[in-house]
Amino acid sequence: MAEPQLMEKIVALCKRRGFVFQSSEIYGGLNGVWDYGPLGAALKRNIKDHWWKAQTQLRDDIVGLDGAILANRAVWQASGHEKEFSDDLVDCKGCQSRFRADQIPPNKPGQKPGSCPECGGELTAPRKFNLLFQTYVGPVQDEKSITYLRPETAQVIFVQFKNVLEVARKKLPFGIAQIGKAFRNEINPRNFTFRSREFEQMEIEYFCKPEQGMALVDQWLEDRLKWYEAIGIPRAKIHVKDIADGERAFYSKKTYDLEYEFPFGIQELEGIAYRTDYDLTQHQNASGKSLEYFDEETKTSFIPHVVEPSAGVDRTVLAVLCQAYDEEKTTDEKGAEEVRVVLRFAPCIAPVKVGVFPLLKNKEHLVAKAKEVADLLRPHMAIAYDEAGAIGRRYRRIDEAGVPFGITVDFETFEGTKEAFGNIAAGEKETVTLRHRDSMKQERVRISELLGLILPQLS
Ligand code: GAP
Repeated sequence: MAEPQLMEKIVALCKRRGFVFQSSEIYGGLNGVWDYGPLGAALKRNIKDHWWKAQTQLRDDIVGLDGAILANRAVWQASGHEKEFSDDLVDCKGCQSRFRADQIPPNKPGQKPGSCPECGGELTAPRKFNLLFQTYVGPVQDEKSITYLRPETAQVIFVQFKNVLEVARKKLPFGIAQIGKAFRNEINPRNFTFRSREFEQMEIEYFCKPEQGMALVDQWLEDRLKWYEAIGIPRAKIHVKDIADGERAFYSKKTYDLEYEFPFGIQELEGIAYRTDYDLTQHQNASGKSLEYFDEETKTSFIPHVVEPSAGVDRTVLAVLCQAYDEEKTTDEKGAEEVRVVLRFAPCIAPVKVGVFPLLKNKEHLVAKAKEVADLLRPHMAIAYDEAGAIGRRYRRIDEAGVPFGITVDFETFEGTKEAFGNIAAGEKETVTLRHRDSMKQERVRISELLGLILPQLS
């Protein structure tokens, strides 16, 4: 399938099944802003929970933080964002289109190279455009009340470093993890949710001794690749770019970009940067407060260095969707050929884990038993109960939603029970059809064994 066509299909599926909607759609939308629908919200939450658990619960050396979106303007002055956080912008003198200087689409045939790709008009020289969203704090809108919506979550971690250090009582190396919203007034939001103006980040600032920094970047690279694998993104689809000297931020001694093979190109998913002691030094100098660490062993104080794995939640969701999307030729119940669209999510992040169906909705005992099965599973996992339409259709619906398991209560369910059909209480011998999303294989499983069978496959 041609890649642009594939992306169109993924975008259409996201709307159709309620993963992602355009923000303010009934008012014509808001460029670069997206809302996650029921399935998207669950998928995003599962990805964040997986990351949070891997970074905080399963390790002893990282603690969490949930900082505010707003901060004192001084934070953004010290970090350099107020002055430096800009992209080069060019305008078309003819049609007034705006482009990021490093992302001008190619000219169409017949257009003069370097002219506007929209109308062929003359482009201005690049000028700096600051990406910060400015706002005012309090009722008076003047110079003194200016601040910005945070463009990254990282600075909040640096600014709270000393407070966290005191309460967490950790020794170097240790990290602070945070998930939260960030805002950038991108010149050209594009590629669906890939470049948005409002997005979420999952960031770790991993503080260390200066001599540990370089080795830790490589360690983090390995850790992060493993994490992507665990949520269903294979290593083979991630390109690791070792950013060359001269192309890195001036304070970074080493940076890896992890790039995913999106249908629209190989693009950044995460950056892992060794930022040295730059950020803490900036904040120590600007605030006048010590951000040093006292090393009990050597009895010396110094500003820790930091390695920062910084991932985008929305880009991870998009990569997971692109990776999971599949089309497969099958035959329906009547033997006709059809295309099955299936999202092959890793079960651990699938928004819904199990679909539960009575074979027929007009058979009371099937419906009652299916609801009983749904109630049995509900406290342990996200389920979708559905009794509308032919069973084949219902399977297709859960395939498109990426639900790994389907459970059908059918006439065989009651075979082998003492009071077949009359007895709808959960019995030891009652069975259901368990359908596996990826293979479409079906097996008979006792209701009493369902939890033990499914739960281990969800972690
Ligand atoms: N604290 C470091 C930092 O913010 P970054 O490379 O600018 O580094 C980190 O951003 C990650 O945040 C990116 O790898 C990407 O996943 C995500 N990200 C950045 N800008 C984004 C945007 N406009 N839309 C969606 N995600 C974005």
